[in-house]
Amino acid sequence: MNYARIVGTGGYLPEKVLTNADLEQLIDTTADWIVERTGVEERHIAAPDETTCDLAEKASRLALQAAGLEPADIDLIILGTTTPDHVFPSVATQLQHRLGCYGGPAFDVQAVCTGFVYALDIANRFIRTDAAKRALVVGADTFTRIINWKDRGTCILFGDGAGAVVLEAADEPGIIDCQLGADGRYKKLLWVPAGVSSGYEQTREEAAFVEMRGSEVFKVAVTTLKDIAERILSAHQMTVADVDWLIPHQANRRILAATAKRLGLPEERMVDCVRTHGNTSAASVPLALDVAVRDGRIQRGQTLLLEGFGGGFTWGAALVKY
Ligand code: COA
Repeated sequence: MNYARIVGTGGYLPEKVLTNADLEQLIDTTADWIVERTGVEERHIAAPDETTCDLAEKASRLALQAAGLEPADIDLIILGTTTPDHVFPSVATQLQHRLGCYGGPAFDVQAVCTGFVYALDIANRFIRTDAAKRALVVGADTFTRIINWKDRGTCILFGDGAGAVVLEAADEPGIIDCQLGADGRYKKLLWVPAGVSSGYEQTREEAAFVEMRGSEVFKVAVTTLKDIAERILSAHQMTVADVDWLIPHQANRRILAATAKRLGLPEERMVDCVRTHGNTSAASVPLALDVAVRDGRIQRGQTLLLEGFGGGFTWGAALVKY
């Protein structure tokens, strides 16, 4: 049986930085309030002419470079996003075109902030069943395009970015396991009311933007991130003591801290990019992974636990031998 191994990571954040001091000029808030409640100090914002595919391409090229591979080596592209350039075609097909590696399957996955973990699970299954040899798995979002800049409960949290990994078939794991889940009953705690089929021309202008019941999302996120970590670890007779690095969805500093505490995992073993990235939706997990690989914290042979949580709700965990 084949396994899938991560052989390269890449990340990209747009140039423009929006600080909490900038937000003080836009909404009724203070930099101190934002830091205390969210841990976010700044976030990156895509330029007006910069799209999700632009961010994805930059992260993907860096992941390929880190893997020592050429685009032509890739035979599968799966991309998690909620903010595609167009209704169709998918960002993945346009990324394939930019890279010039034609013919293999390429498709987007919509699981909001869990998009990357969903994409990783699917790519892992392609490789394990010999349907692909080398996959590019991307999480990319220009989430600030669907943010209502008058809503102080949401605009403080989110930023734009992209992260990518290259997976390659190998004799040993690699990806040990991925476990996904969803519960559609939570739709209205975190959603964008407008849409293709339900109509963009809603009575309220704000319907085209993210609406969130923050404190309720917070509670479900913390409980879920703890539960899915314990479930995937126990399925492999492991405990948090076996995990070198926890890489959770970078939703909010307080969610990360509460998750680590409930799991009994020292915060020093958790990758936390919330301060400078904010919540970049599907990009958050691969971006954090890439940061910790490049700064030397994550070493070959270590055990990683990746966790996603997002609108839907959706969630997922991936247990990885790096
Ligand atoms: N600046 C100042 N005050 C603000 C504010 C801001 N940016 N945003 C909200 N407030 C106010 C509220 O209006 C409220 O005032 P009130 O008591 O007078 O009504 C007060 O702060 C408390 O609001 P609440 O929503 O209970 O705050 P909170 O401690 O839950 O923090 C979030 C708000 C959004 C930071 C927090 O709920 C959160 O991060 N939730 C999770 C969101 C998330 O991660 N979503 C993505 C998941 S993928």
